[in-house]
Amino acid sequence: MDCFETLIGRLAAERNLSDSELAFLIENDSAAEPLFAAADRVRRSIYGDEVYLRGLIEFTNYCKNNCYYCGIRAGNPNAVRYRLSQEEILACCEEGYSLGFRTFVLQGGEDPFFTDDRLCNVISAIRKRFSDCAITLSVGEKPKESYQAYFQAGANRYLLRHETADDAHYKKLHPGSMSPENRKRCLFNLKAIGFQVGSGFMVGSPGQTTENLVCDLRFLQQLRPDMIGIGPYLNHAQTPFAGSPDGSLWQTLRLISLLRLMFPYALIPATTALGTISPEGRELGLKAGANVVMPNLSPVGVRKLYDLYENKICTGEEAAQCRDCLARRVLKAGYRVVTAVGDVKKEPEKNH
Ligand code: 5AD
Ligand code: FES
Repeated sequence: MDCFETLIGRLAAERNLSDSELAFLIENDSAAEPLFAAADRVRRSIYGDEVYLRGLIEFTNYCKNNCYYCGIRAGNPNAVRYRLSQEEILACCEEGYSLGFRTFVLQGGEDPFFTDDRLCNVISAIRKRFSDCAITLSVGEKPKESYQAYFQAGANRYLLRHETADDAHYKKLHPGSMSPENRKRCLFNLKAIGFQVGSGFMVGSPGQTTENLVCDLRFLQQLRPDMIGIGPYLNHAQTPFAGSPDGSLWQTLRLISLLRLMFPYALIPATTALGTISPEGRELGLKAGANVVMPNLSPVGVRKLYDLYENKICTGEEAAQCRDCLARRVLKAGYRVVTAVGDVKKEPEKNH
């Protein structure tokens, strides 16, 4: 135990450890409690007990990609496809605003219907109606010019998980048409344009090793994102990985704590995948260092269709129910949701 405490103390002080030390904490279940306690101390020292709300609008499940783990991959003929109209998206924002949301996350598959022009129209319409809100996009890999156009139209944050930073592992999870280089290039382009950038990875995806996870942490140290989203890999029967075991709740939680200690200022969500793998998953995620929750604002009629993995939670609840449910869960975990745009806090400059 002493050994954990010493390692974790060093990680908290230096925000870094050697590869083998990180691997030890990633693999070792007994590290959980001291890691959670240290991560919670750091999160409270910067963000207090505040938890930021993001309203998730899953606006299209069409996708031209074929990621081997994902239920809405182009190659799944059983996926029932939908896309929301601009009016429907705005109605979700309207409802979200009245429920206290000040960030809207537009997430979708890589849907060719949403050309840059169409997407920019949606973004400008939201920007005009909700000038005090943050607009977060999560629509995948695009040319730099497209990202630039979205930024100019009024989007200010972008989520693009790198999924896995190890090239060989990336190729096991994705078809040859996708490359780890392009994904990483996209992330650096987004940063250069001025987006607040979120990245992240799945925990326990097929073929993942501890070394791959250390590689993920190293990549994040290079990228220095504002937001880091992770969740356990979850099985989906209509993918080439059907039957692969789910990732581990506890390993995901330990990684959330490691991320909080390595990136004290980061915005880290307690994700839907975490809430899916365990009924208390999001509460545990908050206690392990997460400080963001993302209730679903999509119309209930399409919720089940955004079917990335099996048994996804929150598919039957109206936006207001989802928000209230999460607010209660956050309180029970010892924190409170706030109505705020919830930008990342910047670390004070050292004056030496
Ligand atoms: N299990 C867990 N997470 C998944 N995602 C996609 N498919 C799965 C799955 N089967 C995650 C990816 C993606 C995010 C939107 O959802 O990390 O970036
Ligand atoms: Fe959606 Fe609980 S958060 S129902």
